[in-house]
Amino acid sequence: MPRIIIVGNQKGGVGKTTISVHLATLWADQKKRVLLVDADPQGSAYAWLGEDSPVDTAQHVGPGIGDTLRQVQAVGELALSTTTALPGDPRPWMIGASSFLVTGQPQRALDFYRAALGTGERSEIDLNLGRAYAGLNRRDAADAALLRAGWISPEILASLPQPSRDALLVKIADLDADLRAGRLAAPPPLPSD
Ligand SMILES: Nc1ncnc2c1ncn2[C@@H]1O[C@H](COP(=O)(O)OP(=O)(O)OP(=O)(O)O)[C@@H](O)[C@H]1O
Ligand SMILES: [Mg+2]
Repeated sequence: MPRIIIVGNQKGGVGKTTISVHLATLWADQKKRVLLVDADPQGSAYAWLGEDSPVDTAQHVGPGIGDTLRQVQAVGELALSTTTALPGDPRPWMIGASSFLVTGQPQRALDFYRAALGTGERSEIDLNLGRAYAGLNRRDAADAALLRAGWISPEILASLPQPSRDALLVKIADLDADLRAGRLAAPPPLPSD
């Protein structure tokens, strides 16, 4: 599965381009397929890597990252404006919530994921609920929501970082054994607030 890594900070020589170019080259040397996208109009990454580099490069043109994030939020607001028109459809809530999550507003995202749950439970809602709790550093609630997501649909855990995924799969295997032995009274609960 592709991974997107952002090396970001405001303009001003803290080492973003140096770190990006070195990481991209390291991974390309390890035979990974790497695309380095330079979001700075100055385009130093291009110039530094040169034509013989094993790293593919692309220049991000258009609005800066800050403007892009504001656009993400605008997409969220648009999605939410359709929620009353589409009662019972969790997708506008989900898109809206995810836009708040990526713009660093986990509490707002959480409220909307909960609203999405109000239309009926789906494992992808539980998964994102877990992400929102994690963004709020509410580790126990995050683990509970992620466990519930994985209990409903283990495949959905593939999108999580490997250490958390592996730990959850162990817990799910234990619960499964309990279920088969008749020791499980109820599925793992979602956090209540
Ligand atoms: N770890 C480091 N130790 C010492 N010097 C460094 C280190 N990392 C980067 N530099 C030097 O600091 C300067 C700025 O680095 P770089 O251009 O990577 O920063 P930047 O964050 O991309 O800057 P800008 O915001 O202008 O794009 C360069 O001269 C680079 O060689
Ligand atoms: Mg730079």
